[in-house]
Amino acid sequence: MQGKKSAKGKERKQQRKVVTDLLKDYPAFQQYNRNGLDLSLEYYWAEGLPQNVQDWAFTLCKKNMEDIYNTAWGWKDETKLEELAAPEARFLVAYDKVSDGERRPMAYVHFRWEDEDGVPILYCYEIQLEAAAQRKGLGRFLMKFLELIGRKAGAHEVMLTVMKANTAAAAMYAKLGYVEHEDQPEEEEGKGPPGYTILTRRMVAAAPAQRALRPVTNSIQLENIIFG
Ligand SMILES: CC(C)(COP(=O)(O)OP(=O)(O)OC[C@H]1O[C@@H](n2cnc3c(N)ncnc32)[C@H](O)[C@@H]1OP(=O)(O)O)[C@@H](O)C(=O)NCCC(=O)NCCS
Repeated sequence: MQGKKSAKGKERKQQRKVVTDLLKDYPAFQQYNRNGLDLSLEYYWAEGLPQNVQDWAFTLCKKNMEDIYNTAWGWKDETKLEELAAPEARFLVAYDKVSDGERRPMAYVHFRWEDEDGVPILYCYEIQLEAAAQRKGLGRFLMKFLELIGRKAGAHEVMLTVMKANTAAAAMYAKLGYVEHEDQPEEEEGKGPPGYTILTRRMVAAAPAQRALRPVTNSIQLENIIFG
């Protein structure tokens, strides 16, 4: 999402040896059957995300977030489309079965592996649920799953950006134990306090005690190190 570092175009050319079938290690997280929802999960790299699902994700994000984004850095269609198509973008998508052979996406998480001061972290770019899927525990389930994925891969933190105006999301993150990261956006002159906060949930002790990764230049390299 905007408000943080963006990736370099040359990542497209990176050699890849990383996992594309992440879900096979997590049978308990392949389905979500609670509170009237009966969903199945899929994992995608941006390049494998079906076009209709990318279109749906964009539309859902715009519907849920445009007003809220406008309280912080503003909404731009092109920026969101670029984010969704970035080669380092990873997605979990939860589908509802409509009929045999037909299913409808209901929620997605967009995340990336990133290097934060020399340590690997998992950055949650976006979690978006259709209105009909909200307040049924799915957001909590997906965030817990992300944490597990990050923890198992050796990420030190799950980080994310939340808009101050998004009180529902902020309530969920607080409940899940997220706290303010030590690095926060600085106030830009004449613009008042930033409309967003960087949150973190640490999974291992803070940085000084950590073994630093060898320097990496982008998130696909980092992912190769994590899973390589
Ligand atoms: C925010 C969002 C991801 C939460 O997911 P969810 O499945 O609706 O939330 P859950 O049912 O898992 O709720 C988990 C906890 O979050 C908090 N919470 C969630 N929605 C809330 C709301 N509307 N108001 C207050 N607290 C809320 C509650 O503490 C809740 O725990 P409880 O049910 O025991 O009270 C989801 O509502 C959503 O997609 N909203 C629109 C998009 C968005 O804001 N995304 C986040 C961008 S940073």
